[in-house]
Amino acid sequence: MSMKSSPTAYGAVAVAIHWLSVILIIALLISGMLADEATDAGQKASILTAHAPMGIAILILTLVRIAWWWRFDTHCEPLGGDPAWQVKMAKAVHGLLYLVVLAMAASGIAMFVLSGAGDIIFGGAGGPLPDFADFTSRIPHGIGAKLLLALFAGHAGAALYHHFIKRDATLKRMWFVR
Ligand code: HEM
Ligand code: HEM
Repeated sequence: MSMKSSPTAYGAVAVAIHWLSVILIIALLISGMLADEATDAGQKASILTAHAPMGIAILILTLVRIAWWWRFDTHCEPLGGDPAWQVKMAKAVHGLLYLVVLAMAASGIAMFVLSGAGDIIFGGAGGPLPDFADFTSRIPHGIGAKLLLALFAGHAGAALYHHFIKRDATLKRMWFVR
């Protein structure tokens, strides 16, 4: 398997970044929702101790991914046989996934910095956690979470439709073994 993609299959770097991102984003969605629902301050703080670094990790990974596509690699050609609107829709969803992930990371960092939670959780400042609802960046973070879930479901659903119903190579070419 080549490091770079070909017109018909994704390369090892693109595949590794894709699936590592999927794992991180699932962990972020679950931990974010658990933090939101936590009523015990200590429990919320310990969930956020994992949530925030994972959010920074996905930010860095996404920037590396953008740089990788921009400078070193080229996306596969569409497989052919799909209506033009579906090809356009898939591209739009991929673009939106990048955008929403970046916006989630930015609003999360803004929340931590503006509320002082970063200093309390990681800087040893102590004291009670702030109420994140008092900070404007909590709003895009909440809307982004729902948007990301919807995009995730649509994108993964489309991939599974191609694999199990259309039985084409869409999912296989985004994996290490073909
Ligand atoms: C792509 C990256 C991220 C994703 C997918 C994500 C996901 C989530 C989700 C799903 C929620 C719950 C939202 C809701 O139910 O309304 C949440 C809450 C939160 N996230 Fe993130 N997050 C990300 C990055 C970050 C980062 C980088 C930080 C901090 C540095 C952060 C800090 C927070 C905080 C403080 C909350 C609020 C918890 C509360 O209201 O009690 N997030 N996140
Ligand atoms: C939130 C998690 C996900 C994100 C952010 C994401 C993002 C992306 C992006 C941006 C692409 C275009 C290639 C690239 O720019 O690297 C892509 C392609 C792809 N993704 Fe995902 N993905 C996610 C989850 C999934 C899941 C769960 C599946 C499978 C069930 C999946 C299957 C695929 C496939 C098969 C392709 C290739 C599509 C094609 O050849 O046109 N993705 N994904």
